Amino acid sequence: MKTYEVKVLGTGMYAPKKIMTNKDLESVVETTDEWIYSRTGIRERRICSTEGGEFPTDMAYHATLDALKTAGLQPNDIDFIIFASVTPDVKLPNSACILQVKLGITNNCACLDISVACSGFVYGTNLADSMIKTGLAKTVLVVGSEMLSREVNWKDRNSCILFGDGCGVAIYGRAEANSESKILSSILNSDGTGGEFFDQPVGGAVTPITEEHIKEGTHFMQMKGKEMFKVATRTLAENGKKCLEMAGLSLEDVDWVVPHQANIRIIETTANLLGLSMDKMIVNIDKYGNTSAATVAIAFHEAVTDGRIKRGDVVLFDAFGAGLTAGATLLRY
Ligand SMILES: CC(C)(COP(=O)(O)OP(=O)(O)OC[C@H]1O[C@@H](n2cnc3c(N)ncnc32)[C@H](O)[C@@H]1OP(=O)(O)O)[C@@H](O)C(=O)NCCC(=O)NCCS
Repeated sequence: MKTYEVKVLGTGMYAPKKIMTNKDLESVVETTDEWIYSRTGIRERRICSTEGGEFPTDMAYHATLDALKTAGLQPNDIDFIIFASVTPDVKLPNSACILQVKLGITNNCACLDISVACSGFVYGTNLADSMIKTGLAKTVLVVGSEMLSREVNWKDRNSCILFGDGCGVAIYGRAEANSESKILSSILNSDGTGGEFFDQPVGGAVTPITEEHIKEGTHFMQMKGKEMFKVATRTLAENGKKCLEMAGLSLEDVDWVVPHQANIRIIETTANLLGLSMDKMIVNIDKYGNTSAATVAIAFHEAVTDGRIKRGDVVLFDAFGAGLTAGATLLRY
């Protein structure tokens, strides 16, 4: 079977206009700017408008137009959409289909939603890689888009201070023969036994939301922060090392790591475990907080756009999330 190398053709992002600072949060829950910044590295996050225009597929629409522009492509060049989100616009139809219509795509491309929380963009990237490699698709749009402000419990100071809204996308396609730019290795894994560390058990088929849940706020996401922290650092470091090993590269070859932005202390510990300096870690958690499936895509787009990540650089995407899910991608940009 003929196989193809895969590379990034374009990236894009959308950050909601409304900024919520730590200071603003001081009037929402009992907390302080100092506590939030020192424990998480977050200074502010973006919050989607509830009036419309900034729902997950709206953000994805704007981010994709940017990515198409950098890639020099038209919407109908996309032949597969993978939409990662745990906060879709609606339950049905899926977000990828809604986005297909918003983009004016008329080629009946396949549209797939994936729900793997904060690993969403990396899972999507690795799926896109396999599909393009094997010739099942040629040009794949991968979206991470979240409106977490709808699903966090604004009365729970342990979790609400961490999250924000936003969207990041990448378009992947075939690399030319002899291209330096390509995906070098990838890994995906999960451990369902840690599901209870970060879950939202109310609102599904097993337990539909009742008035009682709404009164008690038990229908929101709930998280065991300390447990997540431990698993996160171990998994990020392990997957990063495995990706390098698979590609036959060493830590010295890595120019940039784009880690999931959940907590600056998780990023610092991961850098430490990998034996890399913080100068190599792309960090923007101060501006956006944890935007789940969108963090890696947004951080990657920003670093490409401001010129830190250049063509030819070796870049590691490294993410983990609820599930528990995790994944990494090593690529030469
Ligand atoms: C959530 C997290 C920031 C908490 O930090 P921590 O250093 O573990 O803090 P602790 O949970 O030990 O809490 C310390 C104290 O601060 C308090 N506290 C918690 N949130 C607070 C807040 N927003 N403001 C002020 N105090 C707060 C706690 O009640 C606790 O008080 P106590 O000692 O009197 O009980 C951290 O565990 C974390 O980031 N975990 C990973 C989360 C994650 O990655 N989630 C997403 C996965 S994709």
